[in-house]
Amino acid sequence: MVKQMTRRRFVKGAFGAFLTLFGIGSGGYVYAKQIEPSLLDINTQEVQHPFIPKSFEGIKIVQFSDTHLGFQYNLRQFKKLVKKINELRPDVILFTGDLMDRPNKFTEINNLVPLLQQLHAPLGKYCIYGNHDHGGYGSNLYRNIMETANFDLLLNESKAIKLRDGSHIYLVGIDDAMLGRPNMALALKGVPVNSFKIVLSHAPDLAETISQYPVQWQLSGHSHGGQVKLPFIGALVTPPFGRKYTEGLYRIGQDQQLSLYVNRGIGTTRLPFRFLAKPELTVFTLKT
Ligand SMILES: [Fe+2]
Repeated sequence: MVKQMTRRRFVKGAFGAFLTLFGIGSGGYVYAKQIEPSLLDINTQEVQHPFIPKSFEGIKIVQFSDTHLGFQYNLRQFKKLVKKINELRPDVILFTGDLMDRPNKFTEINNLVPLLQQLHAPLGKYCIYGNHDHGGYGSNLYRNIMETANFDLLLNESKAIKLRDGSHIYLVGIDDAMLGRPNMALALKGVPVNSFKIVLSHAPDLAETISQYPVQWQLSGHSHGGQVKLPFIGALVTPPFGRKYTEGLYRIGQDQQLSLYVNRGIGTTRLPFRFLAKPELTVFTLKT
Protein backbone atom coordinates (compact mmCIF):
# COMPACT_ATOMS: atom_id res chain seq x y z
CA MET A 1 0.00 0.00 0.00
CA VAL A 2 2.80 2.38 0.98
CA LYS A 3 4.61 1.51 -2.22
CA GLN A 4 1.45 2.06 -4.23
CA MET A 5 0.78 5.49 -2.70
CA THR A 6 4.35 6.57 -3.22
CA ARG A 7 4.23 5.54 -6.83
CA ARG A 8 0.87 7.24 -7.32
CA ARG A 9 2.28 10.44 -5.85
CA PHE A 10 5.32 10.09 -8.06
CA VAL A 11 3.16 9.75 -11.17
CA LYS A 12 0.98 12.71 -10.20
CA GLY A 13 4.12 14.72 -9.47
CA ALA A 14 5.84 13.75 -12.71
CA PHE A 15 2.71 14.47 -14.71
CA GLY A 16 2.33 17.86 -13.00
CA ALA A 17 5.98 18.68 -13.67
CA PHE A 18 5.52 17.75 -17.33
CA LEU A 19 2.47 20.02 -17.66
CA THR A 20 4.33 22.92 -16.01
CA LEU A 21 7.45 22.38 -18.10
CA PHE A 22 5.51 22.59 -21.34
CA GLY A 23 3.39 25.47 -20.10
CA ILE A 24 0.24 23.42 -20.44
CA GLY A 25 -0.86 23.90 -16.84
CA SER A 26 -4.48 23.46 -15.86
CA GLY A 27 -5.60 23.09 -19.49
CA GLY A 28 -3.52 19.92 -19.77
CA TYR A 29 -4.92 18.65 -16.49
CA VAL A 30 -8.48 19.15 -17.71
CA TYR A 31 -7.55 17.52 -21.03
CA ALA A 32 -6.05 14.42 -19.36
CA LYS A 33 -8.81 14.15 -16.77
CA GLN A 34 -11.91 14.99 -18.78
CA ILE A 35 -11.24 15.14 -22.50
CA GLU A 36 -8.89 12.35 -23.55
CA PRO A 37 -10.63 9.66 -21.44
CA SER A 38 -13.89 10.47 -23.27
CA LEU A 39 -12.38 10.16 -26.76
CA LEU A 40 -12.48 6.93 -28.74
CA ASP A 41 -10.15 5.56 -31.41
CA ILE A 42 -11.62 2.88 -33.64
CA ASN A 43 -8.63 1.00 -35.01
CA THR A 44 -8.89 -1.51 -37.81
CA GLN A 45 -6.65 -4.49 -38.33
CA GLU A 46 -6.56 -7.17 -41.01
CA VAL A 47 -6.01 -10.73 -39.88
CA GLN A 48 -4.58 -12.90 -42.61
CA HIS A 49 -3.40 -16.49 -42.42
CA PRO A 50 -3.47 -19.55 -44.71
CA PHE A 51 -5.28 -21.51 -41.97
CA ILE A 52 -8.32 -19.20 -42.07
CA PRO A 53 -11.06 -21.06 -44.02
CA LYS A 54 -12.32 -19.31 -47.18
CA SER A 55 -15.84 -18.86 -45.84
CA PHE A 56 -14.45 -16.67 -43.02
CA GLU A 57 -13.39 -14.01 -45.53
CA GLY A 58 -14.64 -10.63 -44.28
CA ILE A 59 -15.79 -11.86 -40.86
CA LYS A 60 -15.62 -8.95 -38.45
CA ILE A 61 -14.44 -9.26 -34.84
CA VAL A 62 -14.72 -6.31 -32.45
CA GLN A 63 -12.56 -6.25 -29.32
CA PHE A 64 -13.19 -4.02 -26.33
CA SER A 65 -11.27 -4.16 -23.08
CA ASP A 66 -10.61 -2.69 -19.63
CA THR A 67 -13.78 -0.69 -19.05
CA HIS A 68 -13.00 -0.40 -15.31
CA LEU A 69 -16.60 0.58 -14.58
CA GLY A 70 -17.03 2.38 -11.29
CA PHE A 71 -13.72 4.23 -11.33
CA GLN A 72 -13.84 7.07 -13.82
CA TYR A 73 -16.11 5.30 -16.28
CA ASN A 74 -19.87 5.02 -15.72
CA LEU A 75 -22.88 3.23 -17.22
CA ARG A 76 -24.04 6.30 -19.13
CA GLN A 77 -20.73 6.23 -21.01
CA PHE A 78 -20.86 2.46 -21.36
CA LYS A 79 -24.33 2.69 -22.93
CA LYS A 80 -22.87 4.89 -25.69
CA LEU A 81 -20.05 2.40 -26.19
CA VAL A 82 -22.55 -0.47 -26.57
CA LYS A 83 -24.31 1.55 -29.28
CA LYS A 84 -20.99 2.24 -31.05
CA ILE A 85 -19.99 -1.43 -30.97
CA ASN A 86 -23.37 -2.54 -32.36
CA GLU A 87 -23.14 0.08 -35.12
CA LEU A 88 -19.90 -1.58 -36.25
CA ARG A 89 -22.02 -4.71 -36.98
CA PRO A 90 -19.59 -7.24 -35.55
CA ASP A 91 -19.93 -10.95 -36.27
CA VAL A 92 -18.03 -11.71 -33.06
CA ILE A 93 -17.54 -9.57 -29.93
CA LEU A 94 -14.59 -10.12 -27.61
CA PHE A 95 -14.06 -8.62 -24.17
CA THR A 96 -10.52 -9.02 -22.85
CA GLY A 97 -11.03 -8.34 -19.15
CA ASP A 98 -11.29 -5.75 -16.36
CA LEU A 99 -15.02 -5.03 -16.53
CA MET A 100 -15.42 -3.30 -13.16
CA ASP A 101 -12.58 -1.55 -11.35
CA ARG A 102 -13.61 -3.03 -7.98
CA PRO A 103 -16.27 -5.72 -8.46
CA ASN A 104 -17.39 -5.88 -4.80
CA LYS A 105 -17.82 -2.08 -4.65
CA PHE A 106 -19.80 -1.74 -7.88
CA THR A 107 -23.42 -1.05 -7.02
CA GLU A 108 -25.09 -0.99 -10.45
CA ILE A 109 -24.82 -4.58 -11.63
CA ASN A 110 -28.57 -4.74 -12.28
CA ASN A 111 -28.22 -1.92 -14.79
CA LEU A 112 -24.96 -3.25 -16.26
CA VAL A 113 -26.26 -6.68 -17.27
CA PRO A 114 -28.99 -5.39 -19.66
CA LEU A 115 -26.40 -3.22 -21.43
CA LEU A 116 -24.07 -6.18 -21.93
CA GLN A 117 -27.09 -8.16 -23.17
CA GLN A 118 -27.73 -5.52 -25.83
CA LEU A 119 -24.35 -6.20 -27.45
CA HIS A 120 -25.19 -8.11 -30.61
CA ALA A 121 -22.96 -10.55 -32.51
CA PRO A 122 -24.43 -13.44 -34.54
CA LEU A 123 -21.33 -15.66 -34.15
CA GLY A 124 -21.08 -15.11 -30.41
CA LYS A 125 -19.73 -12.99 -27.55
CA TYR A 126 -16.68 -14.22 -25.68
CA CYS A 127 -14.66 -12.99 -22.72
CA ILE A 128 -11.79 -13.79 -20.38
CA TYR A 129 -10.74 -12.81 -16.87
CA GLY A 130 -8.63 -9.71 -16.20
CA ASN A 131 -6.86 -9.09 -12.89
CA HIS A 132 -9.62 -6.72 -11.74
CA ASP A 133 -12.27 -9.38 -12.46
CA HIS A 134 -10.55 -11.69 -9.97
CA GLY A 135 -9.76 -8.93 -7.47
CA GLY A 136 -12.18 -7.97 -4.69
CA TYR A 137 -13.71 -11.48 -4.67
CA GLY A 138 -14.98 -10.74 -8.16
CA SER A 139 -14.38 -14.10 -9.88
CA ASN A 140 -17.89 -15.53 -9.41
CA LEU A 141 -19.58 -12.16 -9.73
CA TYR A 142 -17.88 -11.52 -13.07
CA ARG A 143 -18.75 -14.99 -14.34
CA ASN A 144 -22.42 -14.52 -13.38
CA ILE A 145 -22.64 -11.12 -15.05
CA MET A 146 -21.00 -12.22 -18.29
CA GLU A 147 -22.87 -15.50 -18.59
CA THR A 148 -26.21 -13.82 -17.86
CA ALA A 149 -25.37 -11.43 -20.71
CA ASN A 150 -24.72 -14.41 -23.05
CA PHE A 151 -20.94 -14.14 -23.11
CA ASP A 152 -18.93 -17.38 -23.17
CA LEU A 153 -16.27 -17.04 -20.48
CA LEU A 154 -13.16 -18.88 -21.67
CA LEU A 155 -11.14 -19.95 -18.64
CA ASN A 156 -8.22 -21.99 -19.96
CA GLU A 157 -10.53 -23.40 -22.60
CA SER A 158 -11.30 -23.06 -26.27
CA LYS A 159 -14.41 -22.66 -28.34
CA ALA A 160 -14.89 -23.26 -32.06
CA ILE A 161 -16.60 -20.57 -34.10
CA LYS A 162 -18.44 -22.52 -36.77
CA LEU A 163 -20.05 -21.39 -39.98
CA ARG A 164 -22.96 -23.16 -41.69
CA ASP A 165 -20.65 -24.97 -44.13
CA GLY A 166 -18.93 -26.63 -41.16
CA SER A 167 -15.68 -24.64 -41.45
CA HIS A 168 -14.36 -23.23 -38.20
CA ILE A 169 -11.67 -21.29 -36.35
CA TYR A 170 -10.90 -21.43 -32.63
CA LEU A 171 -10.90 -18.91 -29.82
CA VAL A 172 -8.62 -19.91 -26.95
CA GLY A 173 -9.11 -18.03 -23.67
CA ILE A 174 -6.57 -18.15 -20.88
CA ASP A 175 -6.77 -17.00 -17.28
CA ASP A 176 -5.20 -13.75 -16.07
CA ALA A 177 -1.46 -13.80 -15.39
CA MET A 178 -1.51 -11.60 -12.27
CA LEU A 179 -4.32 -13.07 -10.19
CA GLY A 180 -5.31 -16.21 -12.06
CA ARG A 181 -3.66 -19.37 -13.37
CA PRO A 182 -3.11 -19.21 -17.11
CA ASN A 183 -2.68 -22.66 -18.65
CA MET A 184 -2.13 -22.78 -22.40
CA ALA A 185 -1.72 -26.57 -22.58
CA LEU A 186 -5.09 -27.07 -20.89
CA ALA A 187 -6.75 -24.39 -23.01
CA LEU A 188 -5.56 -26.06 -26.23
CA LYS A 189 -6.75 -29.54 -25.28
CA GLY A 190 -8.51 -31.15 -28.22
CA VAL A 191 -7.84 -28.24 -30.60
CA PRO A 192 -6.35 -29.46 -33.93
CA VAL A 193 -2.80 -28.21 -34.56
CA ASN A 194 -3.51 -27.11 -38.13
CA SER A 195 -6.45 -24.89 -37.27
CA PHE A 196 -6.54 -21.10 -37.03
CA LYS A 197 -6.51 -19.97 -33.40
CA ILE A 198 -6.87 -16.61 -31.68
CA VAL A 199 -5.71 -16.58 -28.07
CA LEU A 200 -7.32 -14.15 -25.65
CA SER A 201 -5.01 -13.21 -22.77
CA HIS A 202 -5.67 -10.16 -20.63
CA ALA A 203 -1.91 -9.85 -20.04
CA PRO A 204 0.05 -9.06 -23.22
CA ASP A 205 3.44 -10.00 -21.79
CA LEU A 206 2.58 -13.72 -21.85
CA ALA A 207 3.28 -13.51 -25.59
CA GLU A 208 6.69 -15.25 -25.43
CA THR A 209 5.13 -18.24 -23.68
CA ILE A 210 2.10 -18.21 -25.97
CA SER A 211 4.35 -18.08 -29.07
CA GLN A 212 5.69 -21.51 -28.12
CA TYR A 213 2.28 -23.03 -28.92
CA PRO A 214 0.78 -23.56 -32.39
CA VAL A 215 -1.39 -20.41 -32.36
CA GLN A 216 -1.36 -17.50 -34.80
CA TRP A 217 -2.85 -14.49 -33.04
CA GLN A 218 -3.05 -13.15 -29.47
CA LEU A 219 -5.38 -10.35 -28.41
CA SER A 220 -4.74 -8.57 -25.12
CA GLY A 221 -5.55 -5.49 -23.06
CA HIS A 222 -4.33 -4.66 -19.54
CA SER A 223 -1.64 -2.08 -20.35
CA HIS A 224 -4.08 0.79 -21.15
CA GLY A 225 -1.46 1.89 -23.69
CA GLY A 226 0.50 3.21 -20.71
CA GLN A 227 -2.56 5.35 -19.77
CA VAL A 228 -0.37 8.43 -19.14
CA LYS A 229 2.49 8.79 -21.60
CA LEU A 230 4.99 11.59 -21.90
CA PRO A 231 6.64 12.58 -25.17
CA PHE A 232 10.20 11.15 -25.43
CA ILE A 233 9.72 9.28 -22.14
CA GLY A 234 6.79 6.97 -22.80
CA ALA A 235 4.47 5.44 -20.25
CA LEU A 236 4.98 6.60 -16.64
CA VAL A 237 3.56 3.45 -15.10
CA THR A 238 2.78 0.09 -16.65
CA PRO A 239 1.32 -2.90 -14.79
CA PRO A 240 3.10 -6.23 -14.28
CA PHE A 241 2.64 -8.42 -17.39
CA GLY A 242 1.81 -5.28 -19.40
CA ARG A 243 5.25 -3.66 -19.56
CA LYS A 244 6.86 -5.03 -22.66
CA TYR A 245 3.93 -4.82 -25.07
CA THR A 246 1.82 -1.75 -24.36
CA GLU A 247 -0.23 -1.05 -27.49
CA GLY A 248 -0.79 -2.00 -31.09
CA LEU A 249 0.63 -4.78 -33.24
CA TYR A 250 3.72 -6.88 -32.55
CA ARG A 251 5.19 -9.97 -34.21
CA ILE A 252 6.52 -12.46 -31.70
CA GLY A 253 8.60 -15.63 -31.80
CA GLN A 254 11.63 -16.89 -33.69
CA ASP A 255 9.82 -16.86 -37.02
CA GLN A 256 7.52 -14.02 -35.96
CA GLN A 257 4.79 -16.62 -36.19
CA LEU A 258 2.60 -15.03 -33.51
CA SER A 259 0.84 -11.71 -34.12
CA LEU A 260 0.01 -9.89 -30.89
CA TYR A 261 -2.45 -7.02 -30.75
CA VAL A 262 -2.69 -4.96 -27.56
CA ASN A 263 -5.86 -2.88 -27.21
CA ARG A 264 -5.51 0.29 -25.06
CA GLY A 265 -8.82 -0.34 -23.31
CA ILE A 266 -11.65 2.05 -22.49
CA GLY A 267 -11.49 3.16 -18.85
CA THR A 268 -8.77 4.13 -16.41
CA THR A 269 -7.49 2.75 -13.14
CA ARG A 270 -5.50 4.12 -10.17
CA LEU A 271 -5.35 7.60 -11.72
CA PRO A 272 -8.32 9.16 -13.52
CA PHE A 273 -6.14 10.35 -16.43
CA ARG A 274 -5.37 9.39 -19.97
CA PHE A 275 -2.69 11.24 -21.89
CA LEU A 276 -1.45 10.18 -25.35
CA ALA A 277 -3.24 6.88 -24.76
CA LYS A 278 -6.76 7.31 -26.13
CA PRO A 279 -9.48 4.74 -25.37
CA GLU A 280 -9.79 2.20 -28.16
CA LEU A 281 -12.07 -0.22 -29.94
CA THR A 282 -10.41 -2.60 -32.38
CA VAL A 283 -12.08 -4.06 -35.45
CA PHE A 284 -10.37 -7.15 -36.88
CA THR A 285 -11.35 -8.34 -40.35
CA LEU A 286 -10.43 -11.87 -41.35
CA LYS A 287 -8.78 -12.37 -44.75
CA THR A 288 -8.01 -15.71 -46.28
FE1 LIG B 1 -7.16 -2.82 -16.87
